[in-house]
Amino acid sequence: LDDGLARTPPMGFNDWNSFGCNVDEKLITDTADYFVSSGLKDAGYTYVNIDDCWAAHDRDPQTGRLVPNPQTFPHGIKWVADHIHKQGLKLGIYTSAGTQTCAKTMPGALDHEDVDAQTFADWGVDYLKYDNCNNQDRPALERYTKMRDALKKTGRPIVFSLCEWGQNKPWEWGKDVGHLWRTTGDISDSWTSLLTIFKQNVSLAPYAGPGHWNDPDMLEVGNGGMTAREYRSHFSLWSIMAAPLLIGTDLRKATPETLSILENRDVIAVDQDPLGIQATVLSGDNGHWVLAKPLKNGDVAVTLFNETDTTATFGTTASALGLPKRPAYVLRDLWAHKDAETAGAVSGVVPPHGTVMYRVRRDSRAWAFQPPAAAFG
Ligand code: DGJ
Repeated sequence: LDDGLARTPPMGFNDWNSFGCNVDEKLITDTADYFVSSGLKDAGYTYVNIDDCWAAHDRDPQTGRLVPNPQTFPHGIKWVADHIHKQGLKLGIYTSAGTQTCAKTMPGALDHEDVDAQTFADWGVDYLKYDNCNNQDRPALERYTKMRDALKKTGRPIVFSLCEWGQNKPWEWGKDVGHLWRTTGDISDSWTSLLTIFKQNVSLAPYAGPGHWNDPDMLEVGNGGMTAREYRSHFSLWSIMAAPLLIGTDLRKATPETLSILENRDVIAVDQDPLGIQATVLSGDNGHWVLAKPLKNGDVAVTLFNETDTTATFGTTASALGLPKRPAYVLRDLWAHKDAETAGAVSGVVPPHGTVMYRVRRDSRAWAFQPPAAAFG
């Protein structure tokens, strides 16, 4: 949607990947507090999002409104929103474009779009993830458009996330309906899931841009099913694909290594670059992927991703990246946080399942520091 929201891919947290239905208000407010104390907020993470299972089984019989589950959200959602807003953060919530949500513990919003959108707005919700379960086989476009209109009617700016799993090619119509759309089924905390989702999402680059993003699902970084190297690949690939960066791990137990991945500002800057271009594949032969993403200041981000089980050396060149001809270029290694100079080769030794990520500067240091000829005149 072209309404000023989500001009860069949303960043934040969602409880589903690590907690499933076990969400409560303390988890959400603790996560918000942790965003502030850990520096995640300063790194750009803003949305603290509640997923499925937050409401009571039935609507309020008088008002028809959703009721927060009294056991898990005793203070209600408005109280949670107020807490989060006081920290300078934003709150996300969840429901389904169906008769019930996927977990079937609470009602969905199908045919209740107006009252639910108004309830969320009244509570101070800033983001809605709208799932696709129990949809009665009614057309997706119609169901998602109805909620878009209901949200708009409230007058509150609410990021609208279409969780349609890529079933009806949401990349073809999502730009006019929401700010992001899932392109795949659910991610799980495994290398095979990561690869499958990456390959589905990477080909959809032409559809992404400011206010309308492909969403390859939330992060699994830190959840234990992959190695640190694989999680770095996960974070690198999601960032170069301009994906939403929604943390999906229990931050209260996050290791320094997990945090160092999630807080890598060099990589985050690639994801959040204001030009909003999703990387395209320059080559992907034999599981050796070269992805390039043009950045606003003329630099190009490059990810060399080795899908295979053996170390490999591969890459590209500055001219293949479309950079202007220069005597030399500065290559910033975004995981080592080090600059090096190259005459034009943009390659690296990439370990199995690993990633080398660079920012290739448009202007090399040598070039930039050369005094203009007139200075000698
Ligand atoms: C399916 C979605 O794709 C998941 O991300 C999660 O929201 C679950 N439903 C919740 O039931």
